[in-house]
Amino acid sequence: MNTPTSQFHDIATALTHEGWGVVPDFLSAAKTQALAEECRVLRDAQRLTPAKVGALRTATPLRGDSTHWFQADALSAPQQVFVERLDALRVTLNRELMLGLVECESHYAVYPPGAGYTRHLDRLRDSDARVVSAVFYLNQAWRVADGGALRLYLADGSSRDIFPHAGTLLLFLSAQFEHEVLPATRERMSIACWMRQRTSGPMF
Ligand code: OGA
Ligand code: MN
Repeated sequence: MNTPTSQFHDIATALTHEGWGVVPDFLSAAKTQALAEECRVLRDAQRLTPAKVGALRTATPLRGDSTHWFQADALSAPQQVFVERLDALRVTLNRELMLGLVECESHYAVYPPGAGYTRHLDRLRDSDARVVSAVFYLNQAWRVADGGALRLYLADGSSRDIFPHAGTLLLFLSAQFEHEVLPATRERMSIACWMRQRTSGPMF
């Protein structure tokens, strides 16, 4: 039976053996829709910021999305639901994999048609805080012909394409998997998250 507990156990096992895995129905359709609706409202209100890359934090053609960070002390109702579930998953991963993940950070991301994110690693050069990357998708009725896959590069040189279907959560180890976002023919919305460990010293 696909109870939340067995779902979380399965993804913990996948992370242990493969270093990555997918939870197909991380939230119900209604809860996912509420997040998608909020993301559209923020986009319409121009409360998304073009994403930046690198030490100079300059906007770049390497990355075409605009983002809006969740604020831990000011979560909306749909964000609260998502963050609680992600936190429950974090606790399961700590228990089953002994990862020592202390917190999550999350942002909405909207990629306009034609925008992508070139191949990269989520572990930042100046910090080893990010241990697990999670991406939750908000797009109803996504078709393969729409493009927009996240292409995950595996250690053996092959790759896997994960499509951004509403309700899908992708997890992978931040330090190990390079990945890219392929351009789509339609707008593509996601929540990108990182489960963080305590860092050894002042990294910033
Ligand atoms: C990122 C990222 C993937 C996605 O924000 O670092 O790789 O599918 N996002 O949105
Ligand atoms: Mn990434």
